[in-house]
Amino acid sequence: MCGIVGYTGFQDAYDIVINGLRRLEYRGYDSAGIVLEDGNNKLEVEKTKGKVEDLVNISSQLKGKAKIGMGHTRWATHGVPSDRNSHPHLSNNGKLAIIHNGIIENYDTIKTMLTEKGFTFKSETDTEVLVNLIQYFMDLNTETDFPTAVRYALNEVYGAYAITVMHEDYPGVLVVGRLGSPLAIGIGDKEYFIASDASPFVEFTKEAIYLEEGHMATISLENGVDIRTITENSKIVPEIQKLKLSLEQIEKSGYEHFMLKEIFEQPKSVHDTMRGRLLVEEGVIKMAGIWDHIEKFKNANRIIIIACGTSWHAGLIGEYLIEEYARIPVEVEYASEFRYRNPIITDKDVVIAISQSGETADTMAALKLAKERGAFIYGICNVVDSSIARITDAGSYTHAGPEIGVASTKAFTAQLTILSLIALKLGKHNGNLGNADFMSLIAELDAIPKKIEDVLSSTHELVQDIAKDFINATNFLYLGRGYNYPAALEGALKLKEISYIHAEGYPAAEMKHGPIALIDENMPIVIIAPKKGHYDKIVSNVQEIKARKGKVIAVVNSGDTQVSQMSDYVIEIPETSECFSPIVASVPLQLLAYYIAVYRGANVDQPRNLAKSVTVE
Ligand code: F6R
Repeated sequence: MCGIVGYTGFQDAYDIVINGLRRLEYRGYDSAGIVLEDGNNKLEVEKTKGKVEDLVNISSQLKGKAKIGMGHTRWATHGVPSDRNSHPHLSNNGKLAIIHNGIIENYDTIKTMLTEKGFTFKSETDTEVLVNLIQYFMDLNTETDFPTAVRYALNEVYGAYAITVMHEDYPGVLVVGRLGSPLAIGIGDKEYFIASDASPFVEFTKEAIYLEEGHMATISLENGVDIRTITENSKIVPEIQKLKLSLEQIEKSGYEHFMLKEIFEQPKSVHDTMRGRLLVEEGVIKMAGIWDHIEKFKNANRIIIIACGTSWHAGLIGEYLIEEYARIPVEVEYASEFRYRNPIITDKDVVIAISQSGETADTMAALKLAKERGAFIYGICNVVDSSIARITDAGSYTHAGPEIGVASTKAFTAQLTILSLIALKLGKHNGNLGNADFMSLIAELDAIPKKIEDVLSSTHELVQDIAKDFINATNFLYLGRGYNYPAALEGALKLKEISYIHAEGYPAAEMKHGPIALIDENMPIVIIAPKKGHYDKIVSNVQEIKARKGKVIAVVNSGDTQVSQMSDYVIEIPETSECFSPIVASVPLQLLAYYIAVYRGANVDQPRNLAKSVTVE
């Protein structure tokens, strides 16, 4: 969602802000803007609906003019995407500028109050209300300085925010605050960077402070970084972190899109997820997060998995894995439903939150609720030190590396890998999984990166050819059974989100209860049919589809004959245990979605209306 970049130092602020915004494009946005302090204590703003390159087209006159500035990519919440609603927003007196990620829920009440005091508004945004509230506090008492006024204003609002504010009478100073949306402060030598994540400043510094919930900071070249709590104004000693992120990780490295790069990174990312955890020769799975709390898992009445989107699909596969091997009851919940439905949660429940970004607002809120009610919270996140990672009691990072393409690919297979490790570890520990089965399963899991590598090389060209035949399709069905039912849901989600072709995933047997009515010669049906896992039943499903002339694209094991003979297109993947087959089967489905979208001319890395990190509900 919205991206924030700020800079104060000795370099050209325009270049740093614009390049920083380019790095944050992956978050998803519909407009962009910049404000600089031009050296004569005057704020200069340019903003536009559209992309960062559209902003560059109207703002290049600002280049070289300032050493302090900030920029924003906006994902519309209050008010349509338009030049007017784009950030930065200025206060009525033109002295303050703000950029904001999040939602101010009580903006309407504050707007009414400010309107009564004579303030006027140019946009429909909640953000413009906040900047005027800051001006209001400065006007009310001329002794109130800029940071204090920001603090007063933040104490009046509720909702979620990460903000950065500049004041033209405070040269070189940026004031930032955070509640619910992430914000990082990069510490350079006589320069400071602000950003929604560290990617905009990674080539300038490896030291950063991740602002905590409910904290604000005043950043100036003279006094450095002064962090306070928003409510009490208590001084906080910051924890400076060493960044592990490298420039290479956030560049395309010769691939046309981040999504393709990330699909091809999966042999490595799945391997990285297992590294140091899966020790096949010793016959053990080492996971400190699980081991340190093994009694919690052992005595759990049930495990509740909470997630959204692709992570929710991973959660469904986690349910199959944990119930099969550890025999602990599992429920999988959409975070957005869980948080509002007054669920029964006890201190005997273990909640596992799955989130690539670690910032998803619904998942975060659901976790807070579960925590309040006494559940033990375990996190599976990709982004280190993300908000969700911080509020959990324990957890495992997926270590898939930064995922920049909006459509999740390598993060999903990494989540499946972690869930496999957890299920096998718990099953082995509680005695539901015998040693021989455990040993053979961990050996199979260890072989998955190589199998992904084989799938990538053997199917890449074939999938491109198949994709060409479906660029004009308007609907797709994805079917699978058992472990591959969630894989079918995920395949359908990948296609719809990046190609804008309507696609539905179903358990194959559910076809008869409705979707079969849709099948005719124009309906492409992707069916996941590995040998292990209800193969005979799938054969019958394919027969039923062919009897209605549906076009079958089958994902089968190498050497398959029965399903292959009936199918119009066949994608072969290596055989593996049913429980790991979604990791391998997902790879050609990601490629299929990717190439169909590319051939349709879609912007695969930044699909319309979508955001990488959904920080508002
Ligand atoms: C789809 C996708 C989304 C996310 C969802 C949850 O490709 O990426 O469906 O999975 O928004 O995000 P995280 O995992 O960051 O909580």
